[in-house]
Amino acid sequence: MLNVALMGYGVIGSGVAKVIEENKKLIASRLGEEIYLKYILEIKDMSSTPYADRVVTDLNIILNDPEVKVVVEVMGGIHPASDFTRSCLEAGKSVVTANKAVVADCGDELLALAREKGVRYLFEASVGGGIPIIRPLINDLASNEIEGICGILNGTTNYILTRMTNEGCTYEEVLKDAQKLGYAEANPAADVEGTDALRKIAILAALSYGKLIPMDMLKAKGITEVSLTDIAVAESFGCSVKLIGRAGKLDDGRIYATVSPEFVEDSCPMAHVNDVFNSILVRGNMLGDAMFYGKGAGKLPTAGAVVADVIDALETKYAAPARLFWEKADINDVLPADDVIGNVAKKFCHIFEDGEALKKAVEGKIDISFVSCSGDIHAVMCSEPVLEGSVKTYAVLS
Ligand code: HSE
Repeated sequence: MLNVALMGYGVIGSGVAKVIEENKKLIASRLGEEIYLKYILEIKDMSSTPYADRVVTDLNIILNDPEVKVVVEVMGGIHPASDFTRSCLEAGKSVVTANKAVVADCGDELLALAREKGVRYLFEASVGGGIPIIRPLINDLASNEIEGICGILNGTTNYILTRMTNEGCTYEEVLKDAQKLGYAEANPAADVEGTDALRKIAILAALSYGKLIPMDMLKAKGITEVSLTDIAVAESFGCSVKLIGRAGKLDDGRIYATVSPEFVEDSCPMAHVNDVFNSILVRGNMLGDAMFYGKGAGKLPTAGAVVADVIDALETKYAAPARLFWEKADINDVLPADDVIGNVAKKFCHIFEDGEALKKAVEGKIDISFVSCSGDIHAVMCSEPVLEGSVKTYAVLS
């Protein structure tokens, strides 16, 4: 028996227990032994679950049990999850997590601590749910300079935008369904305001550039202001509205990460990523473009990625590779958040509520590529990030 402890029995935690139970034989055939969930650290009532006899409320029981080599942290939130993670690593146990809030907040310190203690800190499920993206970036793309990454990184908002587009529903209506389906965070503000996707793009930037940008240096714009009108304007330009995370490195060495709703042209594969699916496009200087696609949220896809990390941590006796080393980025390393979209997008859509304002804004400009008008709404696409008089500006992803 390979003993594992679980911290948190919410949507993902219960999924982890289910994956371990349902795929018991398969996992045992791969590891040579069965995984046994020895403890579940949880304060809520677990009497109606099959795990009632394994529930503990004192972390020390896990820390002091030498049989437990791997601990899964799926508690959510930064505290106490990060403190418990530190304690487990200090105690010489590998930690596996899906908790992007912790990885984006102090992943640099936790990776350093894991290395010092000769154990692993694994977080494949923290970005893209069930999509393999962390390990490919660390291992398979280790020989490539990552020129840029962009992606749809939040399943809840993609599900909401898809249903707004296809069914004309408002995001408040669809959000309730996303919560029922277990896609949304406990506090869905992190989803709809873009913070969840921002954490994920910060993690991808850290994996690509070795620097973890503190969240207070980053900015996200979510989907709360995306209206059905904006979606109709996008459609008239042959685009879809998607919440896009972007990260990259400028020629001067500064890195950036940002999240905002963008118009995605139909010719871009990202425009066809719908519902809870996520997609991450990585541009390597040797590889060119590679796209990773799959279910970015949900109990079992995410839990499957967590258990794969558990298998890895149980199987491999070595500590994390030396290249998995992050520093905290400082102000000189980072393109200021407000400058990112203007610097990295090549085309923008401006929406005006009045035709006169549009006429005035485009007067004398020679780079206007397309104008769309529908009733009182007027819109123009051009290469400038801001046109005076526009009420909304969307970057365009080609
Ligand atoms: N709330 C997140 C999402 C869960 O919707 O993508 C997966 O990180």
